[in-house]
Amino acid sequence: MASFLGLDLGTSAVKAIIVDEQETVLASAEAPLRVATPSPLASEQNPQDWWAAASAALEQLAALAPRAMADTRAIGLSGQMHATVLLDEADRPIRPAMLWNDGRAHAEADELKALGDDLAAELGVPALSGFTAPKLLWLARHEPDTIARTASLLLPKDLLRLHLTGERATDPSDAAGTWLFDQARRDWSPRAVAAVGLNPALLPRIVEGSAPSGIVRPGIAARFGLPQGVVVAGGGGDTMVGGVGIGAVEDGRAFVGLSTSAQLFVASDAHHPAPDHLVHAFCHALPGRWCQMAALLNGASVLAAVAHLVGDVPIETLLAEAEAHDTGPSSLLVLPYLSGERTPHDDPYARGVVFGLTRDTPRAALVQAALEGVAFSLADGQAALAAAGAAITSAGVVGGGTRSAFWVQMIADVLGLPLRVYAGAARGPAFGATRLAKLAVGAGSPARVLAEPQVLRVVEPELRRTEAYRPRIEAFRHLYRALRPEFARAAP
Ligand code: XUL
Repeated sequence: MASFLGLDLGTSAVKAIIVDEQETVLASAEAPLRVATPSPLASEQNPQDWWAAASAALEQLAALAPRAMADTRAIGLSGQMHATVLLDEADRPIRPAMLWNDGRAHAEADELKALGDDLAAELGVPALSGFTAPKLLWLARHEPDTIARTASLLLPKDLLRLHLTGERATDPSDAAGTWLFDQARRDWSPRAVAAVGLNPALLPRIVEGSAPSGIVRPGIAARFGLPQGVVVAGGGGDTMVGGVGIGAVEDGRAFVGLSTSAQLFVASDAHHPAPDHLVHAFCHALPGRWCQMAALLNGASVLAAVAHLVGDVPIETLLAEAEAHDTGPSSLLVLPYLSGERTPHDDPYARGVVFGLTRDTPRAALVQAALEGVAFSLADGQAALAAAGAAITSAGVVGGGTRSAFWVQMIADVLGLPLRVYAGAARGPAFGATRLAKLAVGAGSPARVLAEPQVLRVVEPELRRTEAYRPRIEAFRHLYRALRPEFARAAP
């Protein structure tokens, strides 16, 4: 029996999963990653650490499921988007990668925005500071030597591909997040590449997410107990590959992604740019498919930060306390913008805020309000999507945050939407990557491979609660608007 491997290079960990032809999970493994913040707006990781973590996860899989590893036919890749992975002539990373939530290139993003709405429409969204292109401009100004030494540019998951196969390639959904990509043509945009003064020869070739991109090298195969000839699929950006995992592929299929970051995502069968609303109109990870996405920089990371703040209390304890405490919308408001925010604010300077503390505010109230803060920013994403013409009537939900039924119910209530929870919902993009692996070797028709997984339950919104949240969402929006100039003034 053949097996298929998915590798997801996340922000907090590399996750690996191996499934059989029926999508039964045979083994999974995880190796943690850390984010460095060398200056207030910075967010960086060392590309060397990615391959080390991926190797550790693959070694774990080889120990847990040697038979399945030996039967592997193909590997799919997924990864955090938007980073700058700059390699020298010998394919060595030149500096740490600037990540998707790095806010240093705000001035450069503004310059690229000034190039006009036409270009923003071609590229799917106006330039935002976390994207690759403004960060390349920032590097050209602040570290010209880095750019001078750059011999090639990749996205995070593509570095894993380079190690696995020796091939230099990326896919349209990940290229989409560079702000160098013509989304409708699914190819690099000469205008955008010229605007950042980049030599186009540094860019990788484009392979569709479900197409083969190379073969695992013999030495690597031997190291992890893989057979010879394992195909590596193009793969995709983590949000899109998460969508592939739950069959969010056909026009109008929507989902909420709840991992370190958070998204509200709608698949489409054409490119629908709406630059005014900061909705990302990007390529999907499958040929002939696109998406519209409200991209929020702060998801389950907010809960992790609160857990750390209150003394590294286990998240399960905090969630149970918050649920017991919750008798209706919190009187506290938490702005969850720990890393600034993209949709709908485009504000790298925004920061987290707790508003309304009293002498006897319990810890549980803080946790509840933090969960609400993320749910309210998803409501902002929902409004942005509706304004961009992508109204949602129901959605799936994926990612680690879905482990909390309490939070999923809260999000359903806040959005006023029924949410479908899947068997294995927390598996996320690594699972979607196994599906791209399957497609790359033709193991099953797209209709079969991309089916919606078993729905465990549909979480219906409670109307009474949806109504009760409405004025709180308004208060949340007022608080942000009032503080926006203060965030900019306090910026480093
Ligand atoms: C999407 C986005 C995140 C990152 C990190 O625009 O920034 O999904 O890929 O997970």
